[in-house]
Amino acid sequence: MNTVNLTVNDRLIQRDVEGRTHLADLLRDDLLLTGTHVGCEHGICGACTVLMDGRPVRSCITYAAACSDHRISTIESFDDEPLMARLRDAFSEEHALQCGYCTPGMLITARDIVIRYAGRQPAERTIREELSGNLCRCTGYAGIVKAVQKVLAAVTDEPALLPAAAAVVLPTIAAQDFDATSLEAPEAGRARGALKSEQSGARRRIESRFGLTHEPEAVWHLIRNDIKAVVACLPGARLENVGSDGEVTGVIEVRLGPILTRIDGQGGLEYDDVRRRGQVDGEGVDSRSASRATGSVEFVVGDGEDGTTDMQVALEFELTGALAQFSRGALVDDVVQVMLDQFRANLDRQLSGGEVAATAQLNPMRLFLSALARRLRRWFGGGR
Ligand code: FES
Ligand code: FES
Repeated sequence: MNTVNLTVNDRLIQRDVEGRTHLADLLRDDLLLTGTHVGCEHGICGACTVLMDGRPVRSCITYAAACSDHRISTIESFDDEPLMARLRDAFSEEHALQCGYCTPGMLITARDIVIRYAGRQPAERTIREELSGNLCRCTGYAGIVKAVQKVLAAVTDEPALLPAAAAVVLPTIAAQDFDATSLEAPEAGRARGALKSEQSGARRRIESRFGLTHEPEAVWHLIRNDIKAVVACLPGARLENVGSDGEVTGVIEVRLGPILTRIDGQGGLEYDDVRRRGQVDGEGVDSRSASRATGSVEFVVGDGEDGTTDMQVALEFELTGALAQFSRGALVDDVVQVMLDQFRANLDRQLSGGEVAATAQLNPMRLFLSALARRLRRWFGGGR
């Protein structure tokens, strides 16, 4: 048991909680603040969104024990707030809800958007991207977007609607072009294994560097002579055909909690033997969700220390359709990191002449849980 002291809706609370108790459970089951809804319990749907120290967090993946000395605000705390009252009216006027299950989380996210973008007129696409962490299965998003636009316009005319302490900050993701040459000039001091990720509009670029215990020549030899075996080292990925002209077809399957994606794709593969680098550009379709993915993978096989390999990989992708909801955010980076960790281990095993069969047996739940565990370790300061 852990004793936590937290301020919930301006009331100081002390509770003994188990290490595994989620904030959502504490709020709903113990404090009876049932306005916080629980949908997926995987951090995906956003129904459980509350504010911690004024910032939106998922209460279903936030441990109560990690909230000691923090300030939590649930939907109930906004009953008398003018800004939230305006949002409630706008949701109602624009028919932005149907069953209402997603609405508490939507309202908290919408309030956060209005505060951060106050005084500006963000594009509809920007509002949709900001809302992409909150899923509504009833209404579609047109009414919700209109409600947010309406309240943004209202606060321009009536700035007093904004809460006094609201810090108006720029969005954290700046639109910028990616540097296509970044793989050749890695950022100095960036540690191996660390992930660097950037979002530009709907496009996400994730770069990683990691070491392999084998010599670069051996790694490059395998890539050039058995690319199918290399791709099979990535959990859930399979190259089905490699044409003599570099045309490739393949599949990647990933399951995140309740969501299974299977993207069948095709693309082109290019090598540069002198610089030991390669690139695959392609596109694919997930027919279950009618989503489309476009993207590329670049890789460079560099010299590491003592005859080892320093490998750099950059993924750049854009998802459209239903899957676009899951293409951004720290959890995506964590899942990619777990997949790359497994890829590195499998590639080392492959280069040693070991079995790679395990890579075909991607355990999706373990993948998801280990991504989650990595994030929790980071929150509790026990690892990267
Ligand atoms: S219940 Fe927390 S994000 Fe879905
Ligand atoms: S109104 Fe039903 S889930 Fe959004």
